[in-house]
Amino acid sequence: MIQKFGRINLPFIRLGSPSNYHPTKLFENSGYKQFNLLNNKLILCLEDIFLKNAITTRQYSTPTHTKNSVICARAIFAELPETSTKPTGNSYHPLYGCYTIKRTFSDNCNKMAPTLAPKVKLNNGYEMPVLGLGTYELKKSKCKAAVREALNIGYRHIDTAYLYRNEGIIGRVLKEEIEQNRVRRHEIFLVTKLWNIYHEPCKVKYACRKQMDALNVDYIDLYLMHSPIGYKYVDDEALMPHEDSKLQTNDIDYIDTYKAMEELVELGWVRSLGLSNFNIPQMQRILDNCTIKPVTNQVECHPALNQSKLREFCLKHNILVTAYSPLARPKLVRPLPAFYQSQELQQIAEKYQKSKAQIVLRYLIDIGTVPIPKSARPERLLENINVFDFQLDKDEINIINDFNTNLRLWRNEMASFHSYWPFSED
Ligand SMILES: NC(=O)c1ccc[n+]([C@@H]2O[C@H](COP(=O)([O-])OP(=O)(O)OC[C@H]3O[C@@H](n4cnc5c(N)ncnc54)[C@H](OP(=O)(O)O)[C@@H]3O)[C@@H](O)[C@H]2O)c1
Repeated sequence: MIQKFGRINLPFIRLGSPSNYHPTKLFENSGYKQFNLLNNKLILCLEDIFLKNAITTRQYSTPTHTKNSVICARAIFAELPETSTKPTGNSYHPLYGCYTIKRTFSDNCNKMAPTLAPKVKLNNGYEMPVLGLGTYELKKSKCKAAVREALNIGYRHIDTAYLYRNEGIIGRVLKEEIEQNRVRRHEIFLVTKLWNIYHEPCKVKYACRKQMDALNVDYIDLYLMHSPIGYKYVDDEALMPHEDSKLQTNDIDYIDTYKAMEELVELGWVRSLGLSNFNIPQMQRILDNCTIKPVTNQVECHPALNQSKLREFCLKHNILVTAYSPLARPKLVRPLPAFYQSQELQQIAEKYQKSKAQIVLRYLIDIGTVPIPKSARPERLLENINVFDFQLDKDEINIINDFNTNLRLWRNEMASFHSYWPFSED
C-alpha cells in the first residue's frame, strides 16, 4: 500500500562541505528527524534548489553554484510505505504554495541549529540581537509567512511599527509560534514605534496599549518614537492627515512625548525606549531633558549614507544606531545606489564567497550598527542572517566607508516645513 504525500517543502539547508551537497546529506542535515527515517528511494527528486540569487535547478545531482554556503530546497516525497512515520505538522505554506513540515522543537536529536544573531548589550542592560527583521510593507499572508519563516530560520529581533499596519498579523504569528513551543517570548526582541499622530502626551498610553494588544504581548522590548514630528490626530486610521494637500502636523514638543513614553517603562509595558529619525541636536535635547536614556536611534544607514557623525555622537553616549533600509532598498530604488556596481564591493564579496547584500550587512555590523533588513523571500531571509561566519578587515571597511555620498532615500519632504524636520542639517 502506497501513501502519497505530494510535494513537501524543506525550508533551508546549510551546506557544510562539498560532501554535504548530496541529496541524502541534505535531508540528514535539514534537521528533520523524519527524513532520517526515509532513504533515497523515497525521495523522488529534489526540486528547485535555490542558490544565492535563486538560481533554480531541477537536477538531482550536486549543485554547481556553491558560492553561498546556503541553499534552500524543495523535495517531492511520495510512495511512503505504510510502515513509515508520517511527517507531522503539515501545513500550507503561502510563500511556496505547497506543503511544509514544521520543525518540532522538542526533537533536538537531529535539529539544525537556527542561525541566531549575536546580541549586543544596551545601555540599560537588556540585550538586543545585532540583526533584525524589517517588516515595512510586509502585509497579510506575505507578512505572516515571512515572519514565521524568519523565526524558523533564527531571527529573534523583529522591527514593526503602528504605521506598517501589520502588528496584528505579527502578533498572531508570535502567539502561534509561542503556543506551539517553537519559540519563547523572552527569546524575542520585539520593536515597535509610536506613530506621529499619538504625540500628545495623553495619547501615548492609549497608543501603546493598542499596539500591545495587537501584538499579543504584555510587554514591548523596545518602543521608539517614530519621528520627532507630531501629526494632527483625526482618528486611529488617519495616519497621514492632509487638508488641502498639506500634511497636518502639530507643535507638540517631542520632549513631552518622550516623557509620556517614560511612564510606559514605569508601568512595565515597555522595557527600553528609543528614537527614530532624530538628528544630533534633537538627541542632545532628549539627553538634556529626559530621565531615561534612549537605547537606540533608528535611522537610515547603508554604505551610501553611513551616518558617521551620528554614529560618533551615539558611541560617545552609549546609544546604539539601528540601521534602517540597510540594503538601500535595492528592489525599489532604481537606479541602484552606485556602490552596488563597484568593483571593490564585488571583490570583497568574492573574497568571502558572499553576496553583495551580505557584505553590506556585515559592514553595518562591523561599524557597530544593528541592521534590520526586510525580505519577503525565504532564501533572502536566510542570506541576510548568514553573515556571522566572517568579518571585514579595516581596509575593507575603509573601502566601503568611501561609498558614502549622503544619499538619503527617506526625506519625508511633506513635513519639511516643520521646525522639527530632522534632515535640514544635510
Ligand atoms: N524608522 C523608520 O522611519 C524606518 C524607515 C524605513 C524602514 N524602516 C525599517 O527598516 C526595515 C528595512 O528597511 P527597508 O525595508 O526600507 O529596506 P531594505 O531592508 O534596505 O531593503 C528591502 C528591499 O530589499 C530587498 N532585499 C532584501 N534582501 C535582499 C538581498 N539579500 N538581496 C537583494 N535584495 C534584497 C527586498 O525585496 P524582497 O522582499 O523581495 O526580498 C526589499 O525590496 C523596514 O522594513 C522597517 O522595518 C524604518
